[in-house]
This record gives sequence, C-alpha cells and structure tokens, in this order.
Amino acid sequence: MTTVSDMLGAISDVGRDSVRGGYSRPVFSMAELELREWFTAEATKLGLEVSTDRNGILWGWWDAESGDRTGALVTGSHLDSVPGGGAFDGPLGVAAALAAVDVLKERGVEPRRGLAVTVFPEEEGSRFGVACLGSRLLTGAIDADRVRNLKDPAGNTFADVSRAHGLDPKHLGRDEEALRTIGDFIELHVEQGRALIDLDSPVGVGSSILGHGRWRLTVQGQGNHAGTTLMADRADPMVVAAQIVLAIRRTAASQDDARATVGRLQPVPGGTNVIASRVDLWLDVRHPDDSVTAALVESIHGQAQKAAAFEGCSVTLTEESFSSTVHFDAPLQRQLQNSLRRTTSEHQVPALPTGAGHDAGVLAGYVPSGMVYIRNPTGISHSPEEFVEDTDANLAASALADVLEDLL
Ligand code: GLV
Ligand code: MN
Ligand code: MN
Repeated sequence: MTTVSDMLGAISDVGRDSVRGGYSRPVFSMAELELREWFTAEATKLGLEVSTDRNGILWGWWDAESGDRTGALVTGSHLDSVPGGGAFDGPLGVAAALAAVDVLKERGVEPRRGLAVTVFPEEEGSRFGVACLGSRLLTGAIDADRVRNLKDPAGNTFADVSRAHGLDPKHLGRDEEALRTIGDFIELHVEQGRALIDLDSPVGVGSSILGHGRWRLTVQGQGNHAGTTLMADRADPMVVAAQIVLAIRRTAASQDDARATVGRLQPVPGGTNVIASRVDLWLDVRHPDDSVTAALVESIHGQAQKAAAFEGCSVTLTEESFSSTVHFDAPLQRQLQNSLRRTTSEHQVPALPTGAGHDAGVLAGYVPSGMVYIRNPTGISHSPEEFVEDTDANLAASALADVLEDLL
C-alpha cells in the first residue's frame, strides 16, 4: 500500500521554486500539469476511472455496483499552490483521498454509492486572481464569461490557456450533471494555524470559513525620470501605495477579528531609476461579518483617495472576488467528529473555524460539505515552513477512510 508520505515524497521535486523557496505550482503550469499526470497514474493504479470535466476538474471514480453516480460521496482538494508555498496545502488532501480509497479497498468495503476523488484547478487564484475558480465554475458561483476573460500576469486569458490544455472555453461554467453527482463533499487539509498543536490533537473538523475577498487598487501617477524630477514636482504612485499599505494595517488592526493584507504590489514600469506611472496593489480582507468587511474596504478606499489626491495621483478600487462567511453543515460536522473518534481512540475531535478559503467552502453553498484538518507543527502556511509529520500524514489516510466508510 502506498502511504500518504510516500505519495508526497514522489512529488516533492515537482515545482520547487529556487528563487522564492518552497513550491510554485500555478494552474496549468508545467508543475501543475505534472501533478495532474501523477494523480491520474496513482488513481488509475487504484482502479479509479479518471476523467477531466469541462471546467478542468479531475475526477477519479470508484463506482457502486449500480454504476449510478448520482449523490456520490466526493473527496479531494487541489494541486496548485501559492507562489513559494508549502508542500501540503492541497496535495495532502489529494494524497490522503487516494490513500483512503486504498485503505477502504483493503478493508473490503463495497461502496453503496459512488465515491469520487477530485482535484480542483486554480484553488489559490495565484495565476488568474480568483481563488477556488474550479469549484466556482462548477457551481456557477462565478460568471463563465468573466472567467474566460480573466488574465494571468503575462496577459494570457483563461480561455486561451484552458483551450491550450484541452478544454473548450465555450463549455466552462455551471455543470448540472457533475453537480448532481455530489451528494456530500469532504476536503481534508493541512491546518493553517496553531489550533491543533495547542489542543494536542492530530485531527480536527471544520466549523466555518471566514468571509473573505480580494480587491485591486490601481494608483495612477506621472511616470518620470528619477534624476531630473524635483521632489516637489512628482506625482509618485509608489509613495501613495506605501501610505495605502500603512492605512490598511491601521484600519484592520482597529477592528476586532479583521485581517487585511497586501501581499502583492506591482509598480509599472518597474525600473530603479524610473518614477512609476502606476502601481497596482492587491488587498485581501477577511472578517466574519460581510458588512464589516464592506465598511473596512470603503474606509481603506477613502484613505487611499485622500493620499492619492495629496500626491497629485488618482486611485481606483476593483473587487476581484468575494466569499461570504460559510458555516459547514452541522449534522455532517458532528458525523465527521464521531467517525474521527475511531481514528483518535475516542479523544474529542475539535471543531475549528478557519480564516483560509477552500473549495469545500464554495461547495458548501450547494451540497453538504465538511472539512478534516491535520495538525501542522509550525502553525505556518502559504510558506515553505508549512509542515506535517509523516505519522500525521499517514494518519490522514485512515482518518479520511474512517470518515468515508461511515458516510458511504
Ligand atoms: C486560500 O488558501 C486562501 O485562503 O486564500
Ligand atoms: Mn488549500
Ligand atoms: Mn492555500
């Protein structure tokens, strides 16, 4: 039997980023395509029937005797990463799903309904800017036309890139047939904080996902020469951007439970001896109450406009995505906790809220969905320091198998 740690070991060289450290595996990059091939090979070895749907989601099917796929049990995660990300965010859930199928087969389980393992594309939104793009397309939570026109940093549209990888962009969007096959969705994931470490528990279940969104602020100024332009004569968007970053920190820090981040900022044209003509910065805001998030963004926009006007610049704000707070299906959550007591020898299994977005959060608006978290001793994620001990990675397979067996 191939263990989860063996599987993760087999892909540990794919998409390593020698500049940033960790892994950079954007959707439809060489690295992500190699991981898709790895998934197909592993799933095929397990006897699953693998296909790619019209939104680029990979499915590995273990059919019930009836062959009816309606209302199946579906589990999976993603294989793309943030730039310079860790080895576990996404791949742990995929590897655990494959290993769990192996465990169930070893246990002699005959599925009474179909079981599928899925891989969702562009969960991180690190290439086309919108996170959970695959699950948003599948459910129709995002307009397909908008997705076709999304551009990556090199200016390629999602339509062109997906076409180059065998999809027909005309057929992107809500997929009723695929949706009907999902009876329940379970995503196993590395924990992205310290809760399980502090509670001394190897596993937990998801209770909620914090509402979150992404906005782009574009500061327009006057590009000019760094040597010949007097300080008093400048309209420098970088100076405005710096003030916006500080305003964001101040604004979020003054609001309980708020998180706001600028993790990406791009001066145009970006030369050492060039005053930028434009700076784009991306704002990530999260809060349990959507109206508070809206007020925070409005306040940040107001402060940005003031800073821009003072410098002789202008600023525009564009919402790129938004997801309301999600509360996972309570009966399913309790059922997961009960099943996981088997894995943890009757210890209480904590239910955790998280500030991280997941495809399970998008799917929760359409089908009963749940999450299983695996302890991360560093408590760090979206960073090369994200970590899971081999024993916990392998426990993930039996934990997920326990959950799936009960749900089947
Ligand atoms: C995805 O991991 C997110 O929370 O942005
Ligand atoms: Mn993830
Ligand atoms: Mn992530």
